[in-house]
Amino acid sequence: MSQHLDIVYISLTGNTKSFVKRLVAYLNSQYTVDITTINIKELTNHETFPVQGPIVAFLPTYLEGGNGVNTGDVEILTNPLGDFLASHDNYSRCFGIVGSGNRNFNHQFCLTARQYSQRFGFPVLDEFELRGLQDDVIRIGDNIMAKLEKL
Ligand SMILES: Cc1cc2nc3c(=O)[nH]c(=O)nc-3n(C[C@H](O)[C@H](O)[C@H](O)COP(=O)(O)O)c2cc1C
Repeated sequence: MSQHLDIVYISLTGNTKSFVKRLVAYLNSQYTVDITTINIKELTNHETFPVQGPIVAFLPTYLEGGNGVNTGDVEILTNPLGDFLASHDNYSRCFGIVGSGNRNFNHQFCLTARQYSQRFGFPVLDEFELRGLQDDVIRIGDNIMAKLEKL
């Protein structure tokens, strides 16, 4: 019987969406896994519902200015993903989060994924920059499947 995986993500300018699309193609080519993807940005009126899981979350970082050390740790635009995970105890079926961002932001690179890890108590599984490279797809895909198989 194939395993099920829910990929819950938010993508505002398409980078994360592109990564998830390539990740799903990779996983389907290498593993027997039944994957559902949910882009929180495409849900109407910030709708929430219980997700069966296991869930892995993907979250790009959007912060309001600052340097991520003394200032600039205020999340903007991606909050609906946090609301979705908090609703219906979805976070309790999430076994990890993958952060993304732009390395030009230095200390703020992928900061919001680390904040979600602290808030919800699941680990940061990995990180990638912008749309990610095929190496990132393979490394992260294999990491997700290794974790999934141990649940
Ligand atoms: C207003 C704004 C703020 C951003 N802040 C950060 C940041 O603090 N840290 C970071 O790593 N990337 C930051 N980014 C880069 C995005 O996380 C990056 O472009 C990401 O790939 C966007 O994903 P998406 O296209 O799926 O929405 C920011 C981008 C914008 C437009």
